[in-house]
Amino acid sequence: MNSLVERSDGIPGCEVSATCNTKINIPNSQIPYDPNNPTAAQKASAARDNCGAINSCSVFNAKEQLVSVTGAHAYQSPATNQLRGPCPGLNAAANHGYLPRSGAPTILQTINGLGAAYGMSLDLAGILAAYAVAIDGDPVTGTWSIGGPQAGLPIIENGQGISWSHNKYEGDTSIGRCDAYINNGDAHSLSTTRYAYAYEVGMADDSYTFDKFAQAFTANTFRSIQQNPYYFAPLFSTTLVAPAAYNFVIAFMSNHTAQQPGGYLNGAIFKEFFAITGDYPNFSWQPGQERIPNNWYRRPSSQQYQAVGGVFGDLIPNFLAYPNSFRFGGNTGKVNTYTGIDLANYTNGVYNADNLFQGNNFACFVYQNIQQGQPDSVNANPLASTVAGIFTPYLNKVFGGITCPQLQSLNDNNLGVYPGHKYSPNPPANAPENC
Ligand code: HEM
Repeated sequence: MNSLVERSDGIPGCEVSATCNTKINIPNSQIPYDPNNPTAAQKASAARDNCGAINSCSVFNAKEQLVSVTGAHAYQSPATNQLRGPCPGLNAAANHGYLPRSGAPTILQTINGLGAAYGMSLDLAGILAAYAVAIDGDPVTGTWSIGGPQAGLPIIENGQGISWSHNKYEGDTSIGRCDAYINNGDAHSLSTTRYAYAYEVGMADDSYTFDKFAQAFTANTFRSIQQNPYYFAPLFSTTLVAPAAYNFVIAFMSNHTAQQPGGYLNGAIFKEFFAITGDYPNFSWQPGQERIPNNWYRRPSSQQYQAVGGVFGDLIPNFLAYPNSFRFGGNTGKVNTYTGIDLANYTNGVYNADNLFQGNNFACFVYQNIQQGQPDSVNANPLASTVAGIFTPYLNKVFGGITCPQLQSLNDNNLGVYPGHKYSPNPPANAPENC
């Protein structure tokens, strides 16, 4: 393995390091998963259709679900000044005009565009976009970037975009993107070696499901621990957003038909959404060229994918089926030194490994973490009250309706043992890059 150097700025371009491209095989026994003898939780995980545990789809209406890729929604490659980044779903939506082709939508444009293209619910699109505005966007224009920083904005306003949001939005253990630290700070360029790991899990029957992707995420977790001395899983970016993105492939990229209203995803569709060409294992990645396939039918508008029912509703079966995939902690400066944060200690006894996935506890835990973390990010921002005013209503819309155990405070004194927890490289001088 080549030596790793901490960089405060990422490198320009869309390159992937030799370390990231080094192939590591993870056997089923390590996950652990025995296809001939799955556990009850693994059977429950595999029983979901491609719409999700709680938001499963029972209806199909061709006219309503066909996603237009002609006229105003015809595919166009991004121009050099149009932002693209680590999220294939957003890149494809922008390439088809469901989001502004500039790559810098408002919250409302995000809600409308992702509802039309994918059947993402208002509450989920709203909170994801509002968080992006608050954490790495521009609170004055109310826009955020699906790639690097937006050109021409005053420094005081301009966030770094989701491409450069490591540990804040973007996290380790992604499907196709390398962990930031092992790729010179760049966590948005795709490694075809990593993409092939995910592709492999559905190759036998050319079909991809939540359960297979939960296994793929578990295997990648072991790879992060073995490859990345700075591997870090803070609650939001790596414990929640990174595995949720695996679920998003299934929930939002699957095709739907009258025969299979619950959706199916084959390798060809998976590749097109990810801008992958070539045949396994000789893939190449075409940066910024993610597409919505022709004749592709999204999930029905009456069964959109929601925040609590969808995101949490599908993460919990994954974690129960593959307990090794739940990571909250990190490596302590060398590879293979993963140390978990003691949940009971961190939450002053409110949550522990046994009760975290009961009822709404996991959603509550995330909600309470965001609430308690907010003063930091908000105080550090000179536009603090504007930021809070934008984000809080969307936060309350998602979590306001659930009843949570009382949590007075969080003990985060031990985070110093994880060198990765402060790692958040900046864009290089010549950003934005549209990859
Ligand atoms: C406002 C809405 C959205 C926001 C703010 C958002 C943001 C992000 C971010 C920050 C990442 C990087 C996470 C990581 O480190 O793995 C990411 C990755 C990803 N997102 Fe999105 N996303 C959104 C909507 C979507 C939609 C609608 C889809 C599917 C159609 C999607 C699919 C994915 C996938 C598959 C990845 C992982 C890519 C890879 O690792 O190669 N996202 N997204």
